[in-house]
Amino acid sequence: MSGHGTPVPMTSRSCGPLRGTAHVPGDKSISHRSLILGALCVGETHIAGLLEGEDVIDTAKAMRAFGATVTDHGGGEWTVNGVGVGGFAEPDAVINCGNSGTGVRLIMGAMATSPITASFTGDASLNSRPMARVTVPLALFGTQAVGRQGRRLPMTIVGAADPVPVRYTVPVPSAQVKSAVLLAGLNAPGQTVVIEKEATRDHTERMLQGFGATVSVEETEEGRVITLTGQPELTPQNIVVPRDPSSAAFPVCAAIITPGSDVLVPNIGLNPTRAGLFTTLQEMGADLTFENMREEGGEPVADLRAKFSPDLKGIAVPPARAASMIDEYPVLSVVAAFAEGVTDMRGVKELRVKESDRIDAMAKGLRSAGVSVDEGPDWWKVTGLGHGNVPGGVTVASVLDHRIAMAFMVMGMATQKPMTVDDGSPIATSFPIFEGLMTALGAQIMHVNS
Ligand code: S3P
Repeated sequence: MSGHGTPVPMTSRSCGPLRGTAHVPGDKSISHRSLILGALCVGETHIAGLLEGEDVIDTAKAMRAFGATVTDHGGGEWTVNGVGVGGFAEPDAVINCGNSGTGVRLIMGAMATSPITASFTGDASLNSRPMARVTVPLALFGTQAVGRQGRRLPMTIVGAADPVPVRYTVPVPSAQVKSAVLLAGLNAPGQTVVIEKEATRDHTERMLQGFGATVSVEETEEGRVITLTGQPELTPQNIVVPRDPSSAAFPVCAAIITPGSDVLVPNIGLNPTRAGLFTTLQEMGADLTFENMREEGGEPVADLRAKFSPDLKGIAVPPARAASMIDEYPVLSVVAAFAEGVTDMRGVKELRVKESDRIDAMAKGLRSAGVSVDEGPDWWKVTGLGHGNVPGGVTVASVLDHRIAMAFMVMGMATQKPMTVDDGSPIATSFPIFEGLMTALGAQIMHVNS
């Protein structure tokens, strides 16, 4: 359970070198999309390497509620027998998307142009997150939404019976919003156009093309213009999900800050819209190499090798890179604490509306562990103390956020005194094997009461 049950306090203490191979789970973004697009085709989609974290399992359950047959064959092999574009049935109960903003926003888009009504809820974190960013563009198709104050979940969406196509410029850099509009556009006649000023992860565009939709992408002065031709017949696919660069970030950063470490993280998806962290780490002086670069299933993939990096330097992370590493700032701020000098992160307002306010959560935890952090609405700066100098020795709040919990567990591997999170259970939303995988590399992570 992630944050719905008894909290699971976890402690991480300084450990010897991390060594070995870390097989991280499948990509979360691609896993959600595989299930949703599989549900929107007639016929059987095969998925290998699906992330079996709670977020994705909630999306699998949701697809069943909309009428698809979703089967778990074990070992990450799944099949989806879909109902076709426009074929969603009306669910007979409230859809619970747990902790997942991606799940709920993409599913709202996928059902928004079908003549059905569905109600959505989630955990305390998800129910506090803004949904207007999707309901506003969905209203342009003719979709109605009624939620709590501030357009928050629980929320009911009444799909447009007679949808019209939409042209929409996404006002915030968000792949979830872009994807919700494109998925809604699938069942609208004519062409739906989404314009993004800053490129965000492009898995939806790539996968829609893979499933046989006509999607064109043009770089213009207005931004990235994505045009989808509505009402296609999607064709079932065989999907091999690459391993998640956002999960790889944790063993990679742990190796970089833990003396003597040498860790190989194979088969990592290195789509340029996702790989900003690795460039940033290299600019900071991290010993990171990409081995065996190749292409798999339309996505660039490589094996990453990360070694202990004694001479890390703080840098200014270019704001233009933010979208390509948006989920990695929590763990980057941990690496920054072990670097010499200031790491300056700007253009990151979106961090305030993730599973938690991630600037606030990390700043509080880092400060209590002896690291100086300055922050503003859309920026923050961490002043590094250098290797061996970060005190630690505190319990910090994970605020229902998997990446906050994992970032502080990584931090404890190299602080002078252990780091404890009050609740490690949210880790199961995206990286259920985190503890076992890190322990096998040599980390010392313990449940406080065990
Ligand atoms: C995701 C998009 C990002 C990211 C999230 C996954 C996706 O969110 O933070 O973890 O799969 O589309 P935003 O679209 O809100 O930036």
